[in-house]
Amino acid sequence: MTRLTSQMSWMSGEVLAQADTAGAGQAAGNAAAAAGDGAAAVADGAAAVANGAAAVADMARDPNLLIPNDGSFWLPGEASVGAGNVDWLFHALVWLSIVCFVGITIAVVYFTVKYRARPGHKPQPSAHHNDVVETIWTVIPALICVALFVGGWRGYVDLSTPPKHALEVQVTARKWSWEFVHPNGVKDSVLHVPAGRSVRLVMKSEDVIHSFFVPDFRIKKDVVPRRYTQVWFKAEQPTITPDQEIGDLPTDEQVKVAFVGDKANKTKIASQQGRRLFCTEYCGRDHSMMKTRVVVHNPGGYDRYLAFKQEEQDQMPPLERGQDVYARLCFACHTVDGSARVGPSFAGVFGTERTFVDGTSVIMDENYIRESLVNPQGQVVQGYPPSMPSFQGQLSEKEIDGVITYIKSLK
Ligand code: CUA
Repeated sequence: MTRLTSQMSWMSGEVLAQADTAGAGQAAGNAAAAAGDGAAAVADGAAAVANGAAAVADMARDPNLLIPNDGSFWLPGEASVGAGNVDWLFHALVWLSIVCFVGITIAVVYFTVKYRARPGHKPQPSAHHNDVVETIWTVIPALICVALFVGGWRGYVDLSTPPKHALEVQVTARKWSWEFVHPNGVKDSVLHVPAGRSVRLVMKSEDVIHSFFVPDFRIKKDVVPRRYTQVWFKAEQPTITPDQEIGDLPTDEQVKVAFVGDKANKTKIASQQGRRLFCTEYCGRDHSMMKTRVVVHNPGGYDRYLAFKQEEQDQMPPLERGQDVYARLCFACHTVDGSARVGPSFAGVFGTERTFVDGTSVIMDENYIRESLVNPQGQVVQGYPPSMPSFQGQLSEKEIDGVITYIKSLK
């Protein structure tokens, strides 16, 4: 059950919760059986499963859960206009496969038993040609294949053709974070979009191949260095209530805690936060950290978000600007608590001596931080891989000042 839940971690919260509670029920049942009372154990297990189901039902009614857990065993709930195109095709393929697999397996077993070699059994003559049967088993599968192709082709064309006048958001993927830049220049690590409006994402990568994936929207597209790829979607339901807009959203720090918290809590906060967004192309050590959310706003909420963010980013004091850049770009590789991740921690390093792989060393000052951001391969600190991308042209001078101020502040 644990393996199932981890494999299907993209499934809807309800299914996850059901799998978990069913697992707990089984575990309770097994433990009691080991104690010796088999019948009671089965009853206990059943009771635990029933309790689990009740808990799931409670969760579904929770008014704080803005995204209904309406997924199936196979797929999370549909949350974009084009999702239905993908789902019927997926279900058609799954059920066709199941029917064929079961049918063929039964036939193989049946014939193996019926015609097995045994004393007194003579080989029987078999037909080597039958026009009617052969026509049927050629024409029907051919028609099914054509229907699947036409369905898939239409869905593909639809997915690859963004409507004109779609809202355009620029996406940058890098090891290991996402950055979204809106038409008015607002940058964020979380994708905010309005409900009921087509959104076109123009995506590029700064290093290796990443892949943009929002399971609830059924969209997935590789993000490739040195070229642009695009994907579009139209989300129907807002993922936040009007009074939650901007101010009341949990901070990135809280979300990070929520993502590593216990499973029920994690599912709940992640759902409140928006649709889950993953990198789904293995892109290096912290590939699994490369995830964020899509917050879908109520009418007017997206514009309020943009205005709020723009003002915030224009007026931000250097320290906060530095924190903002850190939360968007640095946190996947650098901690602020002294522990090493991919790169050294930012805590307590300002003014200390840095020793590089070539044996030279320098005292960390403002110029060193600036140099590390624009030309990170120039001075690679001993004991760490040379994996930092350059932020030349990516960060404004104001943002670089912010990062310097922030690192200085971390004693
Ligand atoms: Cu980026 Cu995996």
